[in-house]
This record gives sequence, structure tokens and C-alpha cells, in this order.
Amino acid sequence: MQTLKEYFIKAKKEKWAIGHFNFSTADQLKAIVEAAAELNSPVMVATSEGEASFVGYDQAAALVASYQKEGHAVWLNADHHKSFESVKKAIDAYYDTVLIDASKLPFEENIVLTKKVFDYAKSVNPEMMVEGELGYLKGESQIQEKVEISPIDYTQPEQATDFVVRTGVERLAVVFGNIHGIVTEQEEKLDIEHLKKVATAVPEIFLVLHGASGLSDEDVKAAISAGISNVHINTELRVAYHDTLHAELEKEPNQTTPYKFLASSQDAMKELVKKKLELFGSVDKI
Ligand code: G3H
Ligand code: ZN
Repeated sequence: MQTLKEYFIKAKKEKWAIGHFNFSTADQLKAIVEAAAELNSPVMVATSEGEASFVGYDQAAALVASYQKEGHAVWLNADHHKSFESVKKAIDAYYDTVLIDASKLPFEENIVLTKKVFDYAKSVNPEMMVEGELGYLKGESQIQEKVEISPIDYTQPEQATDFVVRTGVERLAVVFGNIHGIVTEQEEKLDIEHLKKVATAVPEIFLVLHGASGLSDEDVKAAISAGISNVHINTELRVAYHDTLHAELEKEPNQTTPYKFLASSQDAMKELVKKKLELFGSVDKI
């Protein structure tokens, strides 16, 4: 099987993106893996710090390893880990890849922490891919009314060059109008011209679009054409899972068997992942 890095090289060259989906439970993970397998698509799955605390680091790694053993092209990422202590848990659990998100720190401190994580990850497993983040990505993976978006928060191209050279990261999370979560009182709009400037400044890096929930399909496609190789979706999956489960429990209030009352929410998540993989152009790439 090809490595995650090899798929990234292929995706960047051919201008499609690897989908990245968060999970909190084993049935959600299964929905993502099955969706990707049915479409012959490589896929990344992930736990944030909160999701990892709920599932367990070793447990998440063991679950994903069990799918890899079956031949699935699936890799586990530690999403938005904000401290050395938390990301170390994922590295020590042998995650395939990690995102050290020190973007809230001043630029120089972001570099120092990201480089420290890069060095530690590579000492544990030279194959482990490391992502850093630059720019201020606002919002949370939930439904919000409004999130202020300002070009001041965007990833600065000249800083991106410096950051990549000094940290060694292989992927870079960038900000160009994207936010985490879904907003109900405003339109989410990407600044594709700004993304192009960042892509020109760091031509070798794999660029990551975070916060893709709530974006139009046109914006996502334009971002992939302009150099994005990895797209993160969380909130839309959470909403699909939650709303379907809610409806199911209302429909069958006396159903107490989890594998029965969870089946439709698992299916809803699977269908949504398939839709996104088609949008990202990653179908039939294995
Ligand atoms: O890292 C996770 C993603 O960026 C999720 O963003 O909740 O807007 O889909 P989202
Ligand atoms: Zn994110």
C-alpha cells in the first residue's frame, strides 16, 4: 500500500484533495472508513484533543490500525493539538500524523513549539507526517450565528516561507477566509486570490483547508484548484449524526439497542462522507 505522503504527492500533482474527517465514536469511524472504501478513496480520520480524550489515544490508534490491517487506505491524525504534552500522547500512541496548532502563540513561539514537536515526532517515527498552523482560524466545530472574518487573521505568505523552512513541517494549515464551524447569519467565503499568494510562497508544502463545513462546493473546488491538498470536515458530520439520531429516538422512543438506534445516524454520516469525497476528487485514487 502507498504511504500517506505518497498520496499527498499524487493529490498535489493531480489537483485533488485527501478528505479529513473527525470522529468521536467507533461507529462514526466505521462510517468514514466504509464510505472511503466503497469509493476507492484514500482518507484521513482524526481526533481533536477533546475527541481523543473521549475515545482514548491508544484506542483510536488501535481501531484505525485494525482497518489498516484489513488493507484500508486510512490514516489517523491528531487534529489541533495545542500543547507539547497533548500531542506527545498522540505521537506515543503511534498516530500516523499530527497537527501541532500553536497558531495562537506569537510567531516565534509558534515556530519553537512546532519545531520541537516535529523533532520529537520524527524521533519516534520518521514516517509520521507533521502539520503546523499559521494564521488565526476562528470559530468552533459547531453551529454559530456569526464569526468575524478579517484579512488581518489570514496566513501571511512571507511568514509562511519562514515558518516552513524553520520548522520542517510537511503540511500547513492556512487561513484565507475559512472558519471552524457553520454560521447561520453570514456567508462563508474563501479568498482564493490570497490562497494563491500563500501557495506561491511555499510551493513544496501540502496546504490544508480547515473548517470546510458550511463552504459552498464552488469555493472548495476553487481552493483545491489553487493548491489545497487536504480538506477538513467536522461540523457537518456532527450535525448529520446528531440530527438523524435525534429523529430516530423520537421515532422509536422505546428502542434501547444501540446498534439499532445508531444505524441511521451512521448511514447519514457515511452518505455525507461519500458526497465530500466526490467533491474533493479523491474517488478511485487508490
Ligand atoms: O480540524 C477540523 C476541521 O477544520 C473542521 O472544521 O468543523 O468547520 O468542518 P469544520
Ligand atoms: Zn481544523
